[in-house]
Amino acid sequence: MKIIAFVNNKGGVGKTTCSKIMAEYLSKVKKMSVLGIDFDPQCNFSHQYLQMEIDPVAPEGLIPPIHPDYNPEDLEEMDWEGRSSIAEIFYGQGVVPYPTYIENLDLAPGHAERLLAAESVRKTEVVEKVHKQLANFLNSEDVRAAYDAVIIDTAPSKGPLTISVMKAATDIVIPSVMEEQPVQGIYGMLQLWMQESLIREKSRPLNLVGILPNMFKQTRLHKDLLNSLQGNPAINRYILPVKLNQRIVYAEVDSEEANPRSIFDFPDDHIAKKEALEAYQHIAERIYS
Ligand SMILES: Nc1ncnc2c1ncn2[C@@H]1O[C@H](COP(=O)(O)OP(=O)(O)O)[C@@H](O)[C@H]1O
Ligand SMILES: [Mg+2]
Repeated sequence: MKIIAFVNNKGGVGKTTCSKIMAEYLSKVKKMSVLGIDFDPQCNFSHQYLQMEIDPVAPEGLIPPIHPDYNPEDLEEMDWEGRSSIAEIFYGQGVVPYPTYIENLDLAPGHAERLLAAESVRKTEVVEKVHKQLANFLNSEDVRAAYDAVIIDTAPSKGPLTISVMKAATDIVIPSVMEEQPVQGIYGMLQLWMQESLIREKSRPLNLVGILPNMFKQTRLHKDLLNSLQGNPAINRYILPVKLNQRIVYAEVDSEEANPRSIFDFPDDHIAKKEALEAYQHIAERIYS
């Protein structure tokens, strides 16, 4: 079971968008059984697939809706309040993934306040309480029996949540806009990847799939930055030979009213679909070869 994470400690570079396209590529195009995980307290990935609700105790954040399988009359579920997020792993509770409108794609949504709490666990306890928990969950029999692949969307941070993703993942992709700040984020992630690689058992290396240029525009700025990364011997081997251009349709499919809601439901000759297929076919080959 591949565990594929999209990481960059800068925001707005396309982590959520690229996670979505990967989850939909594997479930819709490759017919795999996929679990999406939202590890960002902002819960943007969850909001794509579920009607997230405002947290009554912390109104600046979102919580998952009541689970469709929840039955308040079921006595065995007496200690369950009917919602489940990936943050339950930090509280020793079971995670109950939600079905989505995409066949073969389930989601373990985020929970703003509970994920933020994990981000601020004391240093002395963080290894046991946070760093190891995601890997433990994903190694469980239940998860391995139910899913062929796991896609993790992450927070724009280098904190405990991202570290626990680094420890759980088999493969990471670093999406980046070709602009100064996001490119700095690439270096931050390469550093985390190297740190994690040094302490991994040799039998399960953390594969860096590559740096995926996103929201690419044919401007001097974008072209020059991409050229300079491609000319940098410390980095160039990690830059993927595919990219996603800046296209309004990638943002449009985010809307609940969008029709279709997946880039892969557009006609085969649609430029953005062709581009996404090419990019993700390449990425999947790097992961599954
Ligand atoms: N290739 C693209 N073309 C156009 N808009 C994009 C593209 N990739 C992402 N976006 C939009 O840019 C914004 C930020 O992307 P997002 O995936 O949320 O980034 P992150 O998760 O890294 O913060 C979103 O509104 C998204 O719809
Ligand atoms: Mg995001």
